[in-house]
Amino acid sequence: MPGKNEFTALVLEESDGKVTSSLQTLSDDSLPDGDVTIDVAYSTLNYKDGMILAGLGNLVKSYPHVPGIDLVGTVSECRSLEFKPGDQVILTGWRVGEIRWGGYATRVRALSEWLVRVPDGLTLRRAMALGTAGLTAMMSVMVLEEHGLEPNGEVLVTGAAGGVGSVAVALLAALGHRVAASTGRAETHGYLKDLGAATIIERSELETPPKGPLGSERWAGAIDNVGGSTLATVLGTLNRGGSCAAVGLVAGPRLETTVIPFLLRGVNLLGIDSGHCPIDRRRQAWRRLAAEMPMDKLDAMTSEAPLSALAELGGKILQGQVRGRTVIDVRA
Ligand SMILES: NC(=O)c1ccc[n+]([C@@H]2O[C@H](COP(=O)([O-])OP(=O)(O)OC[C@H]3O[C@@H](n4cnc5c(N)ncnc54)[C@H](OP(=O)(O)O)[C@@H]3O)[C@@H](O)[C@H]2O)c1
Repeated sequence: MPGKNEFTALVLEESDGKVTSSLQTLSDDSLPDGDVTIDVAYSTLNYKDGMILAGLGNLVKSYPHVPGIDLVGTVSECRSLEFKPGDQVILTGWRVGEIRWGGYATRVRALSEWLVRVPDGLTLRRAMALGTAGLTAMMSVMVLEEHGLEPNGEVLVTGAAGGVGSVAVALLAALGHRVAASTGRAETHGYLKDLGAATIIERSELETPPKGPLGSERWAGAIDNVGGSTLATVLGTLNRGGSCAAVGLVAGPRLETTVIPFLLRGVNLLGIDSGHCPIDRRRQAWRRLAAEMPMDKLDAMTSEAPLSALAELGGKILQGQVRGRTVIDVRA
């Protein structure tokens, strides 16, 4: 057990280009600068956490490093007037867990301007069941709505059984949209239908773009977690004036397409950057999540694991083998 001025953390160390992790007890003196100290309750597992745990993507600039891009907890000390000890706060993005020490620890120090209060109606655990994935799904819904999406057509979600995908499917269905969920895992079809998907699309159907620059119009909107040739297919099959929120790159960062869908169908490709989402919009997205996310569906897509399971889980999420959301109980 750590002492009063100590905390437990998953620490990454690098040697000869290989990154390894271990659970360690660290002194509070080792925490980075910041005006707020938080006792962490939960963190989560996102695709980016998998990359950081494996030392991929040059995301971490210096070791030893404490990863974890999301966290929720209780303020223990604060030099800003914005928060006081006892406040419950969410921290996601701002490159925390990459260039700053993150949430795979029982204590963190951060900047108060990054924090969002846990909105009414959300428990700490559910806040992390949502995490970056939930914020990203809600930001995608918001930007699609701002570009005219209404619940009168079919909305596609790719990488649907993953974290962002699962939240997006449940959220869109709860908002009255007809959701088409694209997955590469046959065993998740029942799960996706239970979350609210009306149609299942095989991942392979979207991997080959239409022969010409355009295919038949099908999607009123889309949330794409996959990138690569899948995103090219989506752009060529959006309805006239439809929009796609570009979220992820699990199939690769390259996009080969033409400008024709933009010129002949007036489609929109809308970038999502949850990491640097301005604070007012974050607060708005979290308030909407607390009010509009069906909590029974959120609970059904969430599993829980301790810090010690992360080395294995990090590999699994990179291989597309994690379903839904994983909450990390940092005190377990
Ligand atoms: N832009 C942002 O602000 C933002 C925020 C959060 C996440 N992201 C990105 O969004 C993506 C999803 O993140 P996540 O945390 O939800 O990850 P995740 O839980 O691993 O979900 C990704 C899903 O994509 C599918 N998939 C995996 N490998 C694939 C492949 N090679 N080809 C096609 N589909 C594949 C799988 O779903 P099926 O088995 O259902 O096919 C997998 O569950 C990642 O690229 C992540 O970096 C971006």
